[in-house]
Amino acid sequence: MSAAYSTPDIDQPTPLLGGLSPREFMRDYWQKKPLLIRQAIPGFRPPVTIRDVQTLARREEVESRLIVHGEQGWSLKHGPFRRFPSAAQPKWTLLVQSVDLHDDESAALMRQFRFISDARLDDLMISIASDGGGVGPHFDSYDVFLLQGQGRRRWRTSRQADRALVPGLPLKILADFQPDADDILEPGDMLYLPPHVCHDGVAVGNDCMTLSIGFRVPSQATLARGLLESAADQISAQHLDDSGLYGHPCLPGPDLSALYTDADVPATRAPAALPDHLVQATLDTLQRIRLDSAVAARFLGQWLTSLPDSALFDPAEVPVALSTAIPQTGRLALDRCTRLMYSGPQVFINGEVAACATEPALQALADHRTLPADDLRALRPETLALLDEWMQEGWAHWED
Ligand code: SIN
Ligand code: CO
Repeated sequence: MSAAYSTPDIDQPTPLLGGLSPREFMRDYWQKKPLLIRQAIPGFRPPVTIRDVQTLARREEVESRLIVHGEQGWSLKHGPFRRFPSAAQPKWTLLVQSVDLHDDESAALMRQFRFISDARLDDLMISIASDGGGVGPHFDSYDVFLLQGQGRRRWRTSRQADRALVPGLPLKILADFQPDADDILEPGDMLYLPPHVCHDGVAVGNDCMTLSIGFRVPSQATLARGLLESAADQISAQHLDDSGLYGHPCLPGPDLSALYTDADVPATRAPAALPDHLVQATLDTLQRIRLDSAVAARFLGQWLTSLPDSALFDPAEVPVALSTAIPQTGRLALDRCTRLMYSGPQVFINGEVAACATEPALQALADHRTLPADDLRALRPETLALLDEWMQEGWAHWED
């Protein structure tokens, strides 16, 4: 592989983490306690304008919310929106999810946080607010970096254990918020919050913009259900595929085509009772379903790389065909929306199992999101054909 990659140096102290290295941040703060970082990005200018955020909130496929704290209490509306409250009206905020899917600079900003696995990275949400605007005191179930983009915001936080909510409201508002820290953030300042730390961010003055780099935290229930559903795929594909295996070629399953048999059971005096033999036979069958790390990785890889509906791709009219000729210069680059992950030989892209053969170049592409022309020359023809398919889909592009 070429040495031209930029990998995060996890031992290098960085202003982004207040002078800590990523390794120190992960050891001392991640999932443990809040961290206020003054001038995490000195001279920061947000990747989008307030008008851009409003334009996104007009779009059907973009998830947005408008929250107003008026005389009648809290109100919540979901986008798309045609009109927005004026700046003269205090106490409103507009929040737009997944801005990283729509803007290259926003996607690049989010990728500064790739010292944390892509498996956890979720999206870049951007909020704009008029004076006094905010979503109220609440807690979240994800890790978040709250980066002030424009204007000022007062953040109060609390490690309180009481997370009871006011009943009957359209949004989650803490019944008894008791802040133990209180800070005003200026553009470039950033606050890291682990899940369940209570917080309240209120705009101080108009034209407040806050960028939230959010990290999903799956529940144990989600993991367990996903794994079981993925394992069940071994059963539904009860036909021989091209490879002569049951299930997906990456994940051969058992042959379960045989019928249940109870040739030796005696006559019954309790016809309504479920036969123990059938119960045991059902359990025995389950023993034959694979439930191992490859199955878990397959579920996680497909799930974590699947995209929201708002991810749209724009393939080149005449894509480069690497399987015909690899250009002398340039590089392959993943589209900003593309999610590419791997686990051992399994490679996942945008919710699909892409490959199940060890191919270090695909792993390098996933880690660095780019692959120089020189690194493509040693690839197998089928891998080049796969990359051509990705370019035809718009999942990757050739950059000269
Ligand atoms: C925001 O208002 O920009 C962030 C909302 C939150 O605290 O989750
Ligand atoms: Co929050």
